Order: sequence, then C-alpha cells, then structure tokens
Amino acid sequence: MATHKLLLLPGDGIGPEVMAEVKRLIDWLNAKGLASFETEQGLVGGSAYDAHQVSITEETMATAKAADVIIFGAVGGPKWDSVPYEARPEAGLLRLRKELGLFGNLRPAVCYPALADASSLKREAVEGLDIMIVRELTGGVYFGEPKTITDLGNGQKRAIDTQVYDTYEIERIARVAFDLARKRRNKVTSMEKRNVMKSGVLWNEVVTQVHVREYKDVTLEHQLADSGGMNLVKSPKQFDVIVTDNLFGDMLSDIAAMLTGSLGMLPSASLGEIDSKTKKRRALYEPVHGSAPDIAGKGLANPIAMIASFGMALRYSFDMGALADKLDAAIAAVLASGLRTADIKSEGTIAASTTQMGEAILGELQKLHA
Ligand code: IPM
Ligand code: MN
Repeated sequence: MATHKLLLLPGDGIGPEVMAEVKRLIDWLNAKGLASFETEQGLVGGSAYDAHQVSITEETMATAKAADVIIFGAVGGPKWDSVPYEARPEAGLLRLRKELGLFGNLRPAVCYPALADASSLKREAVEGLDIMIVRELTGGVYFGEPKTITDLGNGQKRAIDTQVYDTYEIERIARVAFDLARKRRNKVTSMEKRNVMKSGVLWNEVVTQVHVREYKDVTLEHQLADSGGMNLVKSPKQFDVIVTDNLFGDMLSDIAAMLTGSLGMLPSASLGEIDSKTKKRRALYEPVHGSAPDIAGKGLANPIAMIASFGMALRYSFDMGALADKLDAAIAAVLASGLRTADIKSEGTIAASTTQMGEAILGELQKLHA
C-alpha cells in the first residue's frame, strides 16, 4: 500500500479542535490498515505569527511543497488585527494557494436530508440540494498588482486593488468545471459581471470558447454574478456546477454554505495542475468556514466541514472514492440520528460537542466497515 504524506496545518481559533477530529480518523484508518498516512504538523496564520512573526515560515512552505496533500484548518482572529499587513494570518493561506498553484477551488454545497430545516430557506428550496461551486483561486483581485494605498497629500488616500485575468487562467478553471459537470448533472453556470467589468467580458468569451471547442455535450449558461447570487437563494436547485472568479466565488460560496444549514458544513478542495509526468496534482483541503474565535476552545465547533474536507482528499488525491462515500454516509447517518453541534441545533435534536460529533462519525464509519 502506498504511503501518503499529509501536512496538517490546524491554524487558529477552532482550527486545532476540528483538526483533532480528522486526526482521529487518520489514526483509525492507519490502525485498521485501510490506508497508510504519514502526518506532519505545522503552524500557519496567527499561531505562526506568535511563534515566528510570520504567517508561515520557509520551512513550513518547504514541507508543504514536499507533502502529497495539505489538510488546513482555519486562520485569523481579532488577536492579530494590528499585525503588519504582510504578516496577517490570511497571508499564510494566500501564499500557500499561490506558490503551490492551487487555482481550482471546489466547494460542494450539499444539503443533508436531516438538515433541511436548519437552513434559513424553506425546506422545499434546499432539500436534496447538491451543487458545486468552482472558484478560481490564484488570480483576480486578490492577487492583482498594483495593490496599494497611496497618500494623496491633500488629506485623502487612494486604495487600489487590481482585477486581472489572462486567457489561460480562465481556460483551465473552465475545464475543471466542465470535467466535474460531466460526472454530475452535465450543466455549468458561469458567473461574472460582463456588463461592467472588462475581466467579465473576457471571462464570458473564454468560457464560451472552451465550451464550443471541447465540451459541447455539457449545457452551459451564463449569469451575471449579482443575479446569480439572487438565484442561489431563490431557487438554488437550478444549479449543478457554478464556475466563477476568486472574489465572486468567495462570496457566493458563503451564501451557498447557508443553504446547507451552516457554514460549518461546507468542505473544499484546492487543486493545482495535473503534472504530465507523475499524473499527480498538488492539493490543499480546508473547510470553508473561518477560525470562529468567539467559540474557540469551547467544544462548540462543528467538525463536519473539516472531516468532509478530508473526505475530499480521499476522493480527489488518493483515489479512495469508496472510502470517501462511506465517510459521507457516516456523516449523513449521524445527522439522521439527531446529533447536532450548536450551529445546526434545532428543537428535538441532541446536542453534541465537537469531540462527540467526531467520535460519532467515526463510530458510524466503523459500523459501515464491520
Ligand atoms: C475563504 C476565506 C479566505 C479567502 C481568507 C481566509 C483569506 O474567506 O477561503 O473563503 O478570502 O479566500
Ligand atoms: Mn471566504
């Protein structure tokens, strides 16, 4: 059995608590001989800043580049509000994404049947929801230059962020979306703002060309990102795969998370280009939620997004789709049994701590394997 190298970066806030539940799963898989994972742990974000005054050290970057995958918790918190901009906790995550070339961010929003009432939307709107947001992750306004604040000298300052996309960046993310759609319900919705942004005009043009050239069998539609956001809360089940840029994808995926009941439910995979020789791709797996400093250390965090992110690693990096399916089934079974962390608690359900939720999911997985 191949041994896979995992770098665990728990980060800040609830990151370490939810990561501990993934560690529990990894230890069990190793002990059972179902997989062979070697894990290393590192600091990122505020915890790295406290120890080394940077959001990620060169050593950790090197370990990340050598690892098969990175499992990432969450970064940030008010404690680091006044650290220099370059050393803010989020910079560590952005550096990992950029330097590892993790341009393809998959954010699946699935509404588990037991949670249809936890969403702020009506049950009919979200029951059975299964959509995939494909967010471009290494370009656009998050990384474009110039990115500056200049003092204009007249009591005014000017802030500039640059939205920039090249053809190849749009082509490769479009392919990720079309390939995924072929394995799902064969539909892609591309979202941009071509009515006001040049980058939107090019985005629309390039996605259309890739479709005509390579993916005619897939249904493609275009929506403006603002009305796309509206449609996400009006009738989310119209979507299969949504492909969009870095900024819109960040916002739309938080909206999609709430359709599933809680931000604590949404996993993600960030994937690089497939190496033509090794056929491998760099990858980082992280929950979409943040570090939630307000509930950190209290055992209140929902570990499902983190555990499901590890499930995505099994599926997309290690070709262990059957095991990933079982993990998803274990999550669904635990939810069906009525166990709930605070974020998804509703009347008549049973309160569970982070650890109890993690243990229950592992318990279900063990049953499925018995
Ligand atoms: C996300 C987060 C990050 C982002 C932050 C932490 C830099 O919000 O992954 O959605 O903005 O991309
Ligand atoms: Mn976000």
